[in-house]
Amino acid sequence: MMIRQVTHGDFDRVVALLQQLWPGKRIQYDALLEVLEKYIEESNYWIYGYDEEGILLGIITVSLRWALVYEGKVAIIEDLIVDKDHRGKGIGRQLVRFVEDRVAVGGEVKVIELSSDLHRKAAHEFWEKCGYSKLAVQFRKEI
Ligand SMILES: CC(C)(COP(=O)(O)OP(=O)(O)OC[C@H]1O[C@@H](n2cnc3c(N)ncnc32)[C@H](O)[C@@H]1OP(=O)(O)O)[C@@H](O)C(=O)NCCC(=O)NCCS
Repeated sequence: MMIRQVTHGDFDRVVALLQQLWPGKRIQYDALLEVLEKYIEESNYWIYGYDEEGILLGIITVSLRWALVYEGKVAIIEDLIVDKDHRGKGIGRQLVRFVEDRVAVGGEVKVIELSSDLHRKAAHEFWEKCGYSKLAVQFRKEI
């Protein structure tokens, strides 16, 4: 097992995992692949995968930005998915810990945040077990 950066060769598998996160969503593949490219290329966007014998069993994505309130940078965990057949084995927690260790390097990042849809009750329990507190309601408007 290793946690490693996702590469172009992983795209099909990454899309399959994202589909588990967004069941029923009509994915626009070209647009999605363009954004995946950004996560691979740009320094403020990260995408890591949990690789077991060449198969990605989970992925985590992160973006980094400045935040006045924290007088520093905030890391935002954007997507976390563990393959449905491999949940409950500690993979999600390992991916989160990996990101926590990485953001701690350099001291610029002061806090990690994420938002989770209200209906994802199980995920909320997971985040609390990982030491995250529930503290805001997110608003969204489609453009
Ligand atoms: C949420 C998710 C990433 C968790 O990954 P996982 O590998 O199954 O979780 P882990 O095995 O690392 O669990 C870590 C802790 O969270 C708890 N936990 C995990 N899933 C849970 C669930 N469905 N309900 C309650 N607690 C849960 C575990 O019991 C464990 O706690 P413990 O150490 O006290 O036993 C995974 O279930 C998933 O991909 N779900 C669908 C996508 C999703 O909701 N992503 C998050 C969007 S915000």
